[in-house]
Amino acid sequence: MRPSPPRRLSLAAPFLILLLLTLLSPPRAAAAGGSSAWVALRGAAGSRKASPAEQEGAAAGLLRRLLPFHSGSFSFQIDSKGGVCGQSSCFRISNVVDGSGKGGAEILIQGTTAVELASGLHWYLKYWCGAHISWDKTGGAQLASIPSPGSLPRVQGKGVKIERPVPWNYYQNVVTSSYSFVWWDWKRWEKEIDWMALQGINLPLAFTGQESIWQKVFKSFNVTDRDLDDFFGGPAFLAWARMGNLHGWGGPLSQNWLDQQLALQKKILSRMIELGMVPVLPSFSGNVPAIFAKLFPSANITRLGDWNTVDANPKWCCTYLLDPSDSLFIDVGQAFIRQQIKEYGDVTNIYNCDTFNENTPPTDEPAYISSLGSAIYEAMSRGNKNAVWLMQGWLFYSDAAFWKEPQMKALLHSVPIGKMIVLDLFADVKPIWKVSSQFYGVPYIWCMLHNFGGNIEMYGILDSISSGPIDARTSYNSTMIGVGMCMEGIEHNPVVYELMSEMAFHNKKVEVEDWLKTYSCRRYGQANADIEKAWRYLYHTIYNCTDGIADHNKDYIVEFPDISPSSVTYQVSKRRGMSITRNHRRFFLSEVSGILPQPHLWYSTKEAVKALELFLDAGSTFSESLTYRYDLVDLTRQCLSKLANEVYLDAISLYQKKDSHGLNAHARKFLEIIVDIDTLLAADDNFLLGPWLESAKSLAITEKERQQYEWNARTQVTMWYDNTETEQSKLHDYANKFWSGLLKSYYLPRASKYFAYLTRSLQENRSFQLEEWRKDWISYSNEWQSGKEVYAVKATGDALAIARSLYRKYLRP
Ligand SMILES: *[C@@H]1O[C@H](CO)[C@@H](O)[C@H](O)[C@H]1NC(C)=O
Ligand SMILES: *[C@@H]1O[C@H](CO)[C@@H](O)[C@H](O)[C@H]1NC(C)=O
Ligand SMILES: *[C@@H]1O[C@H](CO)[C@@H](O)[C@H](O)[C@H]1NC(C)=O
Ligand SMILES: *[C@@H]1O[C@H](CO)[C@@H](O)[C@H](O)[C@H]1NC(C)=O
Ligand SMILES: *[C@@H]1O[C@H](CO)[C@@H](O)[C@H](O)[C@H]1NC(C)=O
Repeated sequence: MRPSPPRRLSLAAPFLILLLLTLLSPPRAAAAGGSSAWVALRGAAGSRKASPAEQEGAAAGLLRRLLPFHSGSFSFQIDSKGGVCGQSSCFRISNVVDGSGKGGAEILIQGTTAVELASGLHWYLKYWCGAHISWDKTGGAQLASIPSPGSLPRVQGKGVKIERPVPWNYYQNVVTSSYSFVWWDWKRWEKEIDWMALQGINLPLAFTGQESIWQKVFKSFNVTDRDLDDFFGGPAFLAWARMGNLHGWGGPLSQNWLDQQLALQKKILSRMIELGMVPVLPSFSGNVPAIFAKLFPSANITRLGDWNTVDANPKWCCTYLLDPSDSLFIDVGQAFIRQQIKEYGDVTNIYNCDTFNENTPPTDEPAYISSLGSAIYEAMSRGNKNAVWLMQGWLFYSDAAFWKEPQMKALLHSVPIGKMIVLDLFADVKPIWKVSSQFYGVPYIWCMLHNFGGNIEMYGILDSISSGPIDARTSYNSTMIGVGMCMEGIEHNPVVYELMSEMAFHNKKVEVEDWLKTYSCRRYGQANADIEKAWRYLYHTIYNCTDGIADHNKDYIVEFPDISPSSVTYQVSKRRGMSITRNHRRFFLSEVSGILPQPHLWYSTKEAVKALELFLDAGSTFSESLTYRYDLVDLTRQCLSKLANEVYLDAISLYQKKDSHGLNAHARKFLEIIVDIDTLLAADDNFLLGPWLESAKSLAITEKERQQYEWNARTQVTMWYDNTETEQSKLHDYANKFWSGLLKSYYLPRASKYFAYLTRSLQENRSFQLEEWRKDWISYSNEWQSGKEVYAVKATGDALAIARSLYRKYLRP
């Protein structure tokens, strides 16, 4: 089913009404959705497109990597003439006639591009063979249920055809490259691109290696390599340097890094193109090196305000922005697009630009905003005359006070309709399309944001995912042309990402309860009543977050409060949390006033523990399953972390009552939970600090790079940004991680030092020495950030046995 204006749905209506509606219907909105979106899809790729034969080969290559034994079992065919899919995109799964296809092929998959071929393969493996595919770091794939070659299940009748309801399936946030991909080699990238194709993603960001392009472009504007040393960020902070939030932090970049990343990007782009994807490349947003102001004294260059430093140190803070209205902006913007085409060939017409993200224009005069928008687009289209501007709609949410209707319209309508695509970035929680009359007629993509900072927390809103994109597409005047995933970090919550990816192919709401039954059966390889029941609990609790709060993990273990307990008032009440009633569960911490940070809790922890019990009951059946093990460890971790939040609060209130005995007992328990969670996480390969650090170091050629990369890797997940002796970074713990290694060597000493200062304050009958703790802790942290100790990269211990004993120790009612 294609998105069509509602007038076409009312087939029964008399012709006159039909005509009237047609006339009343705004030409703009009609042009945005509907068939023109499919035409635009076909025009989005550059001239370096893969032929049908190349795409069929790319799908076969993916199959070989995924299922080597089955590489002859499937036959792939691109529907180049539209005989199967018409003008939209689809895949069709059918039997190879009489089973005697070329080389023993049993199943024929036809589709519009290799992405649809891969999606069709995935669909068949899921719904005929009971298989499941997730990221390696979330337990990987369950392929054991697939019958051997020669006995693949037949497809009924003439086969099954699945059409995309909307043309696009977008993937990535502009910061995913830093939180998740930064240390990847080609092997890991290849796996990810396969994953994208299997999920049906056809519009991925391709941001790798752009610093090398910038180096060449800026050189042509007389900027030397040395001038760039404090312009680019370090490897783990590139995303924020690209956006002009900071400069120099974690840098400088070595020539080795620049060259290596460019070579990687070329491989990434080639593979994306072979698979028929349309990569989104970066474009110029006005962010320039400091030297630009000297080289071009008459250019209109302003300095941006401070973004999250502790003391506005100009070494990192306050980058330079070339005003889009300056003619130099168009020169640089055009040169950047041209340089990419020179380097990669004509691979795409879609470019990302977010000039106004967290950077408010100097005036809210619509005419001025409109002229800025046109200038940005002009810089793009001079480089590539078919350019389409892809823009994150985050600003309309984060800076809603500035972006009112006239300002939004001015920006959105500053380029011709069809030349801009907006990402409704946080549509899973705060959809902008609803409050902006569908972005005033501009085509947009419904995106799930879901994750911040690559934090590890089980969280999601399955109901919103299963219905949100359908509501958006079928709403009156809809200009929705795609679905997407914009998470800041990947590799967690596999259930959320599998359901969201499927929405690219569903034209009706998904019945989540039924879907979860097949999901759990596929994920663990067999149906199991306990597990099904556990997933029902999870669906109604952890995966039904309806409080509208963005899920950024602030559990006390991973984001320890930087406060004096005397400054918060905190009323002790009867037991909370574990025994809390459903009615109050969301705000069980609301009795806390002052500045004590509040961890997110949107469900009954008691019911989550019930789900854990059911998981444990099924344990002996699934003890060999890596997907089961991942989920078991994750759920146990989450139950313990929420418990630790309560223990912490109790400790603080006992301190306030000057009960040093009680304080010590609770402090000990809090620390013990940290150690126990570390031991639990150590029993699964996917929750270890070691691989993150080792992958960073493995990209280095020189010892200097090794040190720099390791510091970058350690700093991003801990302090993140700058600090003084007595003030932690404003972004500390933004990218916190529940990783074995990090808990014992970083979160444990932090909490331990803090409680020691608390105890001393009671002993010595004087106030808590916050400043002293901070000094102590910050110097420890800075040492840890430049440390070199090695952490395990392989799991040790029996996860099931550990989870069972921790359940008995802490959670059994
Ligand atoms: C770079 O410097 C040279 C020599 O000073 C000058 O001729 C040229 O115009 C400069 N290029 C740009 C883009 O300003
Ligand atoms: C320079 O840019 C600022 C805002 O970025 C704008 O207010 C000002 O009018 C511009 N000046 C000139 C001379 O174009
Ligand atoms: C449909 O779009 C038109 C033109 O943009 C607008 O005037 C009208 O209010 C929209 N209707 C709804 C229900 O959003
Ligand atoms: C999710 O929570 C909302 C609001 O509390 C409720 O209306 C809805 O029924 C819940 N859905 C599930 C699946 O539990
Ligand atoms: C603790 O200090 C307070 C005020 O500083 C004082 O009133 C109190 O008597 C002291 N308690 C003990 C046990 O010394």
